[in-house]
Amino acid sequence: MKEIKIGLIGAGFMAKAHSIAYAGMPMFFWPVPAIPYKKMIVDINEEIAKAACARFAFETYSTDWHDIINDPEIDVVDICTPNNAHAEIAIAAAKAGKHILCEKPLSLTAEEAKEMYQAAKKNNITTLVAFNYRRTPAVQLAKKYIEEGAIGEILDFRGTYLQDWSADPSSPLSWRFQKEICGSGALGDIGTHVVDMLRFLLGDFDKVMARCATYIQERPIQSGLVDSLGNEKGNAQSPKGKVDVDDQCCFMVECKNGSFGTIEATRNAWGRNNFITFEIHGTKGSLAFNYEHRDELQVCFADDPDDRRGFRSVYTGPNHPYGDALWPIPALGIGYTETKIVECYDFIKAITEETEASPNFRDGYAIELIAKAVLKSAQSQTWTTVDNIEE
Ligand SMILES: NC(=O)c1ccc[n+]([C@@H]2O[C@H](COP(=O)([O-])OP(=O)(O)OC[C@H]3O[C@@H](n4cnc5c(N)ncnc54)[C@H](O)[C@@H]3O)[C@@H](O)[C@H]2O)c1
Repeated sequence: MKEIKIGLIGAGFMAKAHSIAYAGMPMFFWPVPAIPYKKMIVDINEEIAKAACARFAFETYSTDWHDIINDPEIDVVDICTPNNAHAEIAIAAAKAGKHILCEKPLSLTAEEAKEMYQAAKKNNITTLVAFNYRRTPAVQLAKKYIEEGAIGEILDFRGTYLQDWSADPSSPLSWRFQKEICGSGALGDIGTHVVDMLRFLLGDFDKVMARCATYIQERPIQSGLVDSLGNEKGNAQSPKGKVDVDDQCCFMVECKNGSFGTIEATRNAWGRNNFITFEIHGTKGSLAFNYEHRDELQVCFADDPDDRRGFRSVYTGPNHPYGDALWPIPALGIGYTETKIVECYDFIKAITEETEASPNFRDGYAIELIAKAVLKSAQSQTWTTVDNIEE
């Protein structure tokens, strides 16, 4: 069986999710196009790198990501660092001819994303940006219904990603609140997931009109590099640092297909944990999804009899996208891990079949252009056209 050797950089939260996916992928998808082999894990913190090597079952570890780039046996560079390191690592990996799985958002800025996309294209490698929520079977089912015309022409939509882990002002100033490390706040961190799902379902965005706000201007400085996502609190004596990114971002969108919608992202919505939703209205019906009930797609078809019409749940299972590989009974439970396992399968398959993966660096770049337009619109308070991709 062919093996694909993985080098993973940044041994925090996402390293755990990706490592489980490499191990679990052949258990779900069989036969597999190739078996992922976990060769080297890197973290700038040696203690973290060493522990992750044992815990996530890698062959070896290092504190310098160049060791992965320079290892001729490594086929895939998996980038799980905070956003500010994505571009430098990805461009070096592309030049070394390695395939790249990069966590989202692709980069700090659209300019960086363009360089990453162009380096990948020039070196003819396979790329994937880890917007894994679109790989939830219910989201794929929504795509199938839209493509089949089951809800007709799309009129309008709304999307949300709401969390509350930073609503408490004592939730520390991790890298997710520092522009030079993260690029933007709720917009880049979670809003881009919704942008990816809606762009996947509805096509390219044309223009946006946005409002962004920073509710908590300073926070206690967090010790260490790993973001505890609000689980460690600062106290009154902790030194404070300035937040220079958005806590909340809300924008209207006009799509190139003429449909209109709204997108909201905040990490300060008390009571919301991972509230990723969309609702799409068409001329012949509606679709609704809520990740907190991710086995279900809510559907309503206009041609149902008058006395039966209304939203109903389709529980995804063997008859739905990725159903053969996942669990044999609908509603047995799709989790975050499964979305990462599906992502891993699609990526390894694209590498072995030498086809494009999706969302790839071109899509990641398109999403950075949307984020750029959103931030520009929030500043100018005017409708702002999304720039075109420079090929
Ligand atoms: N797809 C998703 O649902 C999802 C969820 C969470 C995070 N993410 C993305 O994944 C990436 C990582 O986030 P996380 O939550 O795992 O972060 P984290 O804070 O848990 O871990 C980051 C790790 O990277 C290490 N690191 C930092 N700079 C490094 C460098 N130059 N070289 C090697 N190691 C370095 C840190 O020491 C830390 O251990 C981010 O881009 C984030 O936006 C995606």
